[in-house]
Parts: sequence; structure tokens; C-alpha cells
Amino acid sequence: MAEGAPTAFVCGHPVAHSRSPLIHRHWLKTHELAGAYEAIDVTPADFGAFLRGYGDRGYRGGNITIPHKEAAFALADVVGEAAAEIGAVNTVWTEAGRLVADNTDWTGFAANLDDLVPSWRGRDTALVLGAGGASRAVIFALLRAGYSEVRVVNRTVVRAVELADRFGPRVTAHDWNALGEMMADADLLVNTTSLGMDGAGSVVPDVSALPATAIVTDIVYVPLETPILAAARMRGLQTADGLGMLLHQAAPGFARWFGTVPQVDDALRQLVIADMAMHA
Ligand code: ATR
Repeated sequence: MAEGAPTAFVCGHPVAHSRSPLIHRHWLKTHELAGAYEAIDVTPADFGAFLRGYGDRGYRGGNITIPHKEAAFALADVVGEAAAEIGAVNTVWTEAGRLVADNTDWTGFAANLDDLVPSWRGRDTALVLGAGGASRAVIFALLRAGYSEVRVVNRTVVRAVELADRFGPRVTAHDWNALGEMMADADLLVNTTSLGMDGAGSVVPDVSALPATAIVTDIVYVPLETPILAAARMRGLQTADGLGMLLHQAAPGFARWFGTVPQVDDALRQLVIADMAMHA
């Protein structure tokens, strides 16, 4: 740890794959700030002690990643309003001795679409594939953006029903078999499942039922152009890849720990893309 300089972490299990150190170290360098950012692998059994003790070890706070996002939410003294609705946190810091936690995945999702397809706002019907942790942040962002209907389609429909119950009447749950029907009048399709991730090799949903005006986005960013995005592009639909969500979700934590609002720009994007190519 850098002596005396502000230090933050990303904590997960495993954590070696995390690109957060690359992003935060890039910002420390480009903003010429003294500070450090470290990846720390902590097992679920040790996570509570880690979270309670990071301040004593000299950390200002950090990012929390899989599988600890729900546990950190439960352990925090104070959680932001968004985090409370999503039920998971990805950013923690200490304020007057209290452990504060918030969720910036949903703002990252929204900021990425604001950058790439600003017309995603002002639309009515969204279709979300998947009902895991990432899906909850996406649904929250869509509701905040004013979508009047968010349809959640999941392989295991009971998980979609849980989300519909959680978020109220604007969110509805549907079976995977209803996908074509659900697409017919959808303005925005969001994939939050691991379908099409490197090596997953599974059947990719047919996007031919979407209206010609639909936008398609994927929160998976490895590969950058997922099979769903490729299919949408072939159909001439507007698309947005998921890398910007990763970059934008990192910014609020950096600002809090290191005191400078960082830039999400093309240099950062290219740096992460180059790293992805190196580890492909
Ligand atoms: P995360 O927190 O990243 O969202 P998760 O909680 O493991 O991860 O959720 C993964 C999502 O991808 C789930 O919606 C999962 O569907 P199930 O709830 O039915 O498991 C979905 N998923 C994973 N592999 C899939 C596949 N081959 N086909 C369809 N959906 C899949």
C-alpha cells in the first residue's frame, strides 16, 4: 500500500479478472494524483471481517464485486436510496466512522446509454433478459428513466416474478417462450444474461421480432460485440455495447476516495479494449 496516500480496493472472490485496478490506476495517473488501488480476494466467510476492518488497514473504501454485493448491502450502516431498492451495493466508503454503501451499476448503465444512444430516454417499453443481480440495477435505471413498462423474461421464470414483485406494477414477469411476443412492441432490449459471453456458446435469442426503431444493448462486454448485438446490427437496429457501463460505474467511487471526478473518455475505453485483447 502506498504510504500515506489514499488507497482504495476492489474486493471479490475471485478478483483477478477485475478490470477495476486498470481503470482506477489509469485515472490516478492521468489526473496526477497520489494514491493506490488494489485488488483483494476475500472469501465469503471472511468478508464481514474485511468490510468492518478495511479502515484500520488504511483503505478509504472500495468497490465490491461478485459474490459480495448483497452481503455488503446487508452489512452497511447506511445505504443509498438506489442501493436499497436494488438490494446490492458495489461502492463503499467510511463517513464519521460509519460504513456507507451505494450502487453505481444503475448510473453506469444509464450513463453508457446517454453516451451511445441518447434516444433511449423518453421511450415506453423495455424488455430485459435475465433476472439476476445485474438485472435489478438495470430495471431500477429503466424505471428512473421513466419507462412505463419493463418486461422481465428469464429462463427460470420464478426469478422474474420475484423482481416484478419487488419493483411493483410497472415491472412484469414473462416466460422465455414469450420472448418473440414480448419483443413485438419493445422500444429497448437489454441483455443481462451471460448468453453469448466468451465460451458460453448458447442459443442466442432471435431479434427479428423487434420493431425497426428498437435499441439493443448488452451489459456483457466480453466480447465487446456479443451475438445479440451482432444480430441487432445486422438487422440495422441501433446498438450499445456494455463496456461504458463498467467505466461509468467506477467514476463515483473514484471521486469519493480520491477527490477528483474522473473522465470516461475514449483513451480509457481503448486501454480496456487493449487489455481485453491481451487476455482473450
Ligand atoms: P448476475 O448477478 O451477473 O446477473 P446471476 O445472478 O447468476 O448473475 O444471473 C445470471 C442470469 O443469466 C440469470 O437470469 C440466468 O437465468 P436463470 O435465472 O434461469 O439461471 C441467466 N442465464 C445464464 N445462462 C443462461 C442461458 N444459457 N440461457 C438463458 N439464461 C441464462
